[in-house]
Amino acid sequence: MAKVFNWQLGREMEYPYEAPRPERQFTMIMDTNKCIACQSCTIACKSTWTWGRGQEYMLWNNIETKPYGFYPIGWDVNVLSLLGTQAWEGETYGGETVFEAAPDGERVLGWSPDEADWNHPNLGEDEPTGDGTVTYVPEKPHSMAWMYYLQRICNHCTYPACVAACPREAIYKRPEDGIVLVDQTRCRGYQECVQACPYKKTMFNLETRVSEKCIGCFPKIEQGLQTQCTTVCIGRLRLTNFLSTPDKADPRKPADFLVHVKKIALPLYPQLGLEPNVYYIPPVHVPVEYTSQMFGPGVQNAIDAYLGAKDDPELLGLLMLFGATERIMDTFAVRDGIAYAYDEAGEEIVSVPVQEPTIVRPFDYPTELAGEPATGFLHNT
Ligand code: SF4
Ligand code: SF4
Ligand code: F3S
Repeated sequence: MAKVFNWQLGREMEYPYEAPRPERQFTMIMDTNKCIACQSCTIACKSTWTWGRGQEYMLWNNIETKPYGFYPIGWDVNVLSLLGTQAWEGETYGGETVFEAAPDGERVLGWSPDEADWNHPNLGEDEPTGDGTVTYVPEKPHSMAWMYYLQRICNHCTYPACVAACPREAIYKRPEDGIVLVDQTRCRGYQECVQACPYKKTMFNLETRVSEKCIGCFPKIEQGLQTQCTTVCIGRLRLTNFLSTPDKADPRKPADFLVHVKKIALPLYPQLGLEPNVYYIPPVHVPVEYTSQMFGPGVQNAIDAYLGAKDDPELLGLLMLFGATERIMDTFAVRDGIAYAYDEAGEEIVSVPVQEPTIVRPFDYPTELAGEPATGFLHNT
């Protein structure tokens, strides 16, 4: 095993090979607070990439309701139970990763889903916690009943378990953008990758007998465009971007600003040790004990920064730029109430107001009812 530095863990860790970092790293940011689980992203991905034979069950992008939703069933709770105690000492992870906890003779601690585990992608959808008697959020800060939507794609990890596990070296991480791909001509269907990926984002095709996974929409990335799941998102909660390591963070770059400067977007289960490159703004209404296990020790700080965005024009401006353009933003700036996005040549791509104008609609009471008491808004008059 080689020693590599995982900045999300604040320490070195063991990994099966040296794993040099790519020239730049594809990343996505998801604001969980804005998702309505409309599944537009899921369908956009499916109709673009997985409409063929053997791909029927595949959802490279899926949206699941936490805490009871899974695709495949039990994907996260199973690996968390196998891993045992996961303790943080401040911002340093003190437990073992899936590489360090690998059983003798294996490279990664993993498990294999049964075929039926993939059959219920909407399991637990819209089911809140609690005993079923409380169906609303009674008061702040945390209710007895809560749920939220988790947007899931391949994390295009810095230390991918799928790459580490494949005996054929059929999976590789592209040096130019860090996107992780399965070489379909090398793959022999061993499915070690399916067992190893703790996020369960490699999927076996029963027709072609080889594995497949989210390709980070690389044909779009190569043209400077954001992914399909980003551009169709109704909630404008996704951002496709590139992320630096913390020591090279540039506050003018959108992902660096959110992840390293404001620390508002956090990785999914960082304790597993893969340094995943999809980052989440955690839900503000969910008990921090739950989200801390999922997103690591920075959750309260991220929530405070997010709730403070109304008084932080730079952060608010960048959040307003989500979904404002199909092109990948290189840098951004906020001036005089306007948020601007720029390309790599420094040319403006798009600009949006940091605060949308508020229009108060006049109460338009129909003249034939003049004199009658008003009982409500008459939307169609
Ligand atoms: Fe590989 Fe899974 Fe990481 Fe994607 S999420 S790069 S499939 S280990
Ligand atoms: Fe699908 Fe592209 Fe999104 Fe990956 S990045 S989930 S391939 S739409
Ligand atoms: Fe390797 Fe997975 Fe194919 S382990 S051989 S990429 S099925």
